Amino acid sequence: MFKNEDDVLENNGIYHIYKNGKPKKYKSWLLGAFSFLYDPIMNKSVFPKTLGASMEKHELFLKNELKFTHNKEILELGTGSGNLSQILPNDNQYSGIDISEGLLKIARKKFYKAGFKNFKLFLCSAEELPFKNNFYDICICNISLNFFNDLDSVISELRRTLKKKSKFICSVPIKDRNTDKKTIRGNIYSENELKDIFESKGFLFKPYPFKNGSLLYFSAVLEN
Ligand SMILES: C[S@@+](CC[C@H](N)C(=O)[O-])C[C@H]1O[C@@H](n2cnc3c(N)ncnc32)[C@H](O)[C@@H]1O
Repeated sequence: MFKNEDDVLENNGIYHIYKNGKPKKYKSWLLGAFSFLYDPIMNKSVFPKTLGASMEKHELFLKNELKFTHNKEILELGTGSGNLSQILPNDNQYSGIDISEGLLKIARKKFYKAGFKNFKLFLCSAEELPFKNNFYDICICNISLNFFNDLDSVISELRRTLKKKSKFICSVPIKDRNTDKKTIRGNIYSENELKDIFESKGFLFKPYPFKNGSLLYFSAVLEN
């Protein structure tokens, strides 16, 4: 599954990326020791207050979208604490990447508990993936795209690692829906900006009609 087997080493259930014999390090907004605060912050503050969105509706929408997805190679960008383990059917092969080792450790427990037999977690950036070309059937990215500094590189990596005609499913806060002018962290795009960026890279961009606070749900299919 890797671009270069020698660059990836597992340590305690989490895969690390090596460059010149040294593990790559990443700067995460939430210090490892405070990772246990992530779920309460998302539940009690980010979803209801910052995004004006319902976490229940978010999970229900994604569950419905993914309920017929079985035995596929799934990639998630920005796994966080592993909430997709409650949404995605557990007979899929799952690869989750994130720059926070603390959150990946929480995710590891959740994926075990949810009965996934085949899952791997990677400490790495969405901007530089260790995976080989044309490997994944579906890529999912929830409320993380706004944190990627170099979106061009992320989309190039998606083009490279996704199989042709496969789907990127994303939920992301956008300017147009942030009607209460809340301060939302990261790079906040408009729907049209996202459409232009994805279409310029050969993806067919399709917003879902579902609305949930300032979140846009869209799919982008790799056309050519
Ligand atoms: C708001 S959280 C969302 C996590 C998860 N998808 C969820 O729905 O709970 C954003 C995540 O993106 C991760 N992240 C930020 N920059 C990243 C990057 N360049 N590559 C991979 N993950 C990144 C953060 O560490 C964080 O876990």
